[in-house]
This record gives sequence, structure tokens and C-alpha cells, in this order.
Amino acid sequence: MTAVVFFVLLLSLVSGSHAWRCLGAPTLYQARQIDASKGLVLATNQLQQNFFLNGLSWSYLHGQRMKHITTGDTGTWGVSSNNQLYKMIGGNFTRVPGLSLSQVDAGGDGFLVGSTGSRAYCLRTAYARVFKGAGSVSWSVLSSYSLKYYSCGLYGCWGVDTIGRVFHTRSVNPNSCSQTGWQVVSSGSLKMKMVEAASNGLVFGLSTDGKVYLRAGVNAGRTHGTFWSNIPMGVAMRHLSYDLGRLWVVSNAGNIMFCMH
Ligand SMILES: *[C@@H]1O[C@H](CO)[C@@H](O)[C@H](O)[C@H]1NC(C)=O
Repeated sequence: MTAVVFFVLLLSLVSGSHAWRCLGAPTLYQARQIDASKGLVLATNQLQQNFFLNGLSWSYLHGQRMKHITTGDTGTWGVSSNNQLYKMIGGNFTRVPGLSLSQVDAGGDGFLVGSTGSRAYCLRTAYARVFKGAGSVSWSVLSSYSLKYYSCGLYGCWGVDTIGRVFHTRSVNPNSCSQTGWQVVSSGSLKMKMVEAASNGLVFGLSTDGKVYLRAGVNAGRTHGTFWSNIPMGVAMRHLSYDLGRLWVVSNAGNIMFCMH
């Protein structure tokens, strides 16, 4: 049984004008990765077992284990330990033949993005939304930069390359996967391990040393924003996701919290 322990971890955390308050989520032993969209919260643990948050505890998703899972507009997807892609169909993770991927993100409106660890790919609507277990899918190259982590939100897609630089493209066409071109957003001493772009336009970064940042100044006219604003967390984080007012974070120690402001 999952022990349910709620505790106020950190009270008023002040970052610029934003004060974030974090609470402990129901305990998931040795959590590793989290992804939230449209109210659904998915997480993986060290054994690559997969769960969704169900009130006060985590419910186990049976079948194929995933090292990385994502949920969003095109459905729920996962990547297994041997880099095979799966899509949730009829309650089962079902194999999607094609590219070997280390990470996927379903945050884009109508398309899926994935990284092979060194290159980014895009799965257009005709495949991503429609795939229901038969046939194969065909991926489009999204960027020739050496990108290891991708996330798409309201204002385009964000990528992190293998040395922690952050890239952004203003828009990706879900029907063709064509894009507006990539630009380097930050390449200084602040090295990111991941960037997560939410469907409401907020963009969060997680640095290689586990610090959490909110991208300031992101709007329709300036989709890459202005600077990274630190959100103090007290402990180092390994993963994060944002949905419906909650910033979900997984600490290096494997604890899950959610923060609101
Ligand atoms: C899910 O997978 C199981 C085991 O392969 C199978 O028996 C079942 O019919 C599948 N369910 C659906 C709804 O496809």
C-alpha cells in the first residue's frame, strides 16, 4: 500500500513577484519522472513502473513498463527501457513500430515530439492522433541540433541540447511538422537538463544542478521570453511538469511535490 503523507514542505517561497507554495504529493516510492496534462498526472518510478494519481494514492498501470511517459492532446505515450515507443490504446500500452526514442512529449497541439537522445523528431497529426495499433508511423526530423529533451506548449516548442543549451521554435504545424526555425534562447553558464512548456504558455526549466526556473516574459509577441527566474525549492529536483495551476516536481531523492502560486 502506498503510504499517504501530506506535509507542508516549504512555506512561502518568493521568486520575483511569484510566491510558490509546495505540498507533498501522495508518496510514490523512488519516483523518477512526472507528466501532467488535462488534469491527469502520470509518474514513473526507479523500476520503470508507471502510475497515475488517483486521489490519495497512485494507481498502477499494468503491462509494459516505461522509463518515460507523457500524456496530452494526442493521447498517452511511453518509451520503454529499450527505447521502444508505446501508445495507450484501450487501456493497454501498445507498441508503435518505427523510431527508437529516449524521450517523448505529447504537449503539442495535435502532434507528438520525441528525441533519440541526439536528434529531435515530430509525429504529425495524421499519425499521432489516429494511430490505433496497426501499421507503422513515419516521423519527420524536427531539428538538426543535438537535442536530447523536447517539450511543446502554447507558444511553440523548446529543446535542450546535450550540453544544456536551450532552443526554441515559435510554431510547429501539426499537419506537416514544418516549423519556423530554431533559435538559441540561452547558452550561458545556466545549463538546463530539461524544459517543459505548458499548454497555457508557461515555460519551466530545470538546470543540470536541479534548480527550477520559470521563463519570464513569454507571450504571443515574444514566445521565447526574456530571462530565467529561479523558483527556490530547497532541494535538488530531477524532473518537473505543469498543468492547471500545479507545478509538479520530483526531487533527486525521489519525492513528488506540487507547487502553486
Ligand atoms: C489489452 O491487452 C490484453 C492482453 O494482450 C488483451 O487481452 C485485451 O483484449 C486488450 N484490451 C483492449 C481493449 O484492446
